[in-house]
Amino acid sequence: MHDWKEAQQALHMTQAELARVSRLTTMGELAASIAHEVNQPLTAVINNSSACLRLLAADNLQPEVLRRVLEEIVADGTRASAVVARIRGFIKKEPAEKNKLDINGVIQEVLTLADRELYENRVLLERQLMESLPPVLADRVQMQQVLLNLIMNGIEALTPVIDRPRLLWVQSRVDESGDVQVAVRDSGTGLSSEAHRLFTPFFTTKANGMGMGLSISRSLVENHGGRLWAAPNSPHGAVFYFTLPESGGSPS
Ligand SMILES: Nc1ncnc2c1ncn2[C@@H]1O[C@H](COP(=O)(O)OP(=O)(O)O)[C@@H](O)[C@H]1O
Ligand SMILES: [Mg+2]
Repeated sequence: MHDWKEAQQALHMTQAELARVSRLTTMGELAASIAHEVNQPLTAVINNSSACLRLLAADNLQPEVLRRVLEEIVADGTRASAVVARIRGFIKKEPAEKNKLDINGVIQEVLTLADRELYENRVLLERQLMESLPPVLADRVQMQQVLLNLIMNGIEALTPVIDRPRLLWVQSRVDESGDVQVAVRDSGTGLSSEAHRLFTPFFTTKANGMGMGLSISRSLVENHGGRLWAAPNSPHGAVFYFTLPESGGSPS
């Protein structure tokens, strides 16, 4: 009976975490709508100011017109800054909660979340996780988000492949400088010639892509003192690496 209860508790936890992770992966959508909302008032400010400059050049700017246009500019500026204030509020609600983490455990959790996607896309998964990896000081949900982004990208790069196995490797190890390194490697389509833009916000080669996954992931990893980069995989596909400094045995 004990086991059943534990399994049920584990399931509840996974569901709660899934909810949190999917809420965080909508960050990309949020960013796109923010860009739109900020851009509109800024365009209005530019148009109004340009019109005033033209009228001024033609010596045809009535003080009453100028007053109305300036009022509009103030209103638009206020609107844009309110949008920015809202983002700040949103971001502040999710402060990084850094704890000592076993990154292999985080990998297992995310692979559980991605299980269905892997199966439905006929992706063969190989885990190569180093045993007794030193802990890292990191926010669990943020690390889940980074891993989930990389794994989903890997699956998306594999689905066009029909003439060879669709392979995804998730690897962990300690690198030469003692940092914990995670690699998500695929036998997919590989990096395009625009590989230098992968981490640029809104860069996407997908019809329904948002292009925010890698840029958000990189900033999350860098906020943990780590690095995230990409390289070609041999003979096919791509590999995304990230490192996190080892927690150094300091009390968490
Ligand atoms: N595993 C991969 N293999 C090949 N290209 C990739 C891979 N992961 C990411 N990319 C490229 O980087 C782009 C940006 O990825 P991302 O920021 O996650 O946005 P999105 O997935 O919405 O396109 C993708 O559109 C794709 O061109
Ligand atoms: Mg993506």
